[in-house]
Amino acid sequence: MSIIKTMKIWFATNNIHKKKELQAILNRSLHIPSEHRISFDPEETGDTFCENALLKARELKKLLGKKNDPVIADDSGLCVDGLDGRPGVQSAYYGESGGKKLTSQQKNLLLLEELGDSKIRTARFICAMVLLFDENRFFVVQETLEGEIVKSHNQIRGTGGFGYDPIFNIPKFSRTLAELSDEEKNNISHRGKAGRSIAKFLQNNG
Ligand code: IMP
Repeated sequence: MSIIKTMKIWFATNNIHKKKELQAILNRSLHIPSEHRISFDPEETGDTFCENALLKARELKKLLGKKNDPVIADDSGLCVDGLDGRPGVQSAYYGESGGKKLTSQQKNLLLLEELGDSKIRTARFICAMVLLFDENRFFVVQETLEGEIVKSHNQIRGTGGFGYDPIFNIPKFSRTLAELSDEEKNNISHRGKAGRSIAKFLQNNG
């Protein structure tokens, strides 16, 4: 059996939804800091998804100390053409004021309000994912999922997924991402595609 198969792999996130998705994509269990009483809340100061993913991976690696375990980190977000690419790398903090975060539902309502009746509804999810072995050895991949923002409040639909999924329509399915099953979402999603590249890399380098 390869070393990679028996190795503990960490995922630099506190987002349980992301952990669940990536575990299904990689078909293996991942360890996240909160489940090991490790306080992990790095400031995402990068200008790009790649920079932030690398920053998160390096930060967790540092916190783990001498452990040899590889660390996966992702940075993702929604880029809306009618909003000049916003919220983009700021997706997790969209609408935040005075340190007070909005709920996903509030973010979705704010985004629809900001976009108003703009004819430009195209948007994409982006996910940069890093597999870090040590400070200077890492594999990075970035993927996308194209779609469009629903036209109005009464088209917000679905209970699956998380975050912006209920306002993100997939034209091919005429359903929002939140109306897809977990498997359907993972098959087409930005995180699914990036995760499968990481899985292949792990297989070939284990
Ligand atoms: P981060 O990658 O943890 O910095 O935050 C990404 C933010 O982008 C999340 O909090 C969500 O709001 C949004 N996001 C990223 N991926 C998805 C997705 O697959 N569905 C819905 N929202 C997402």
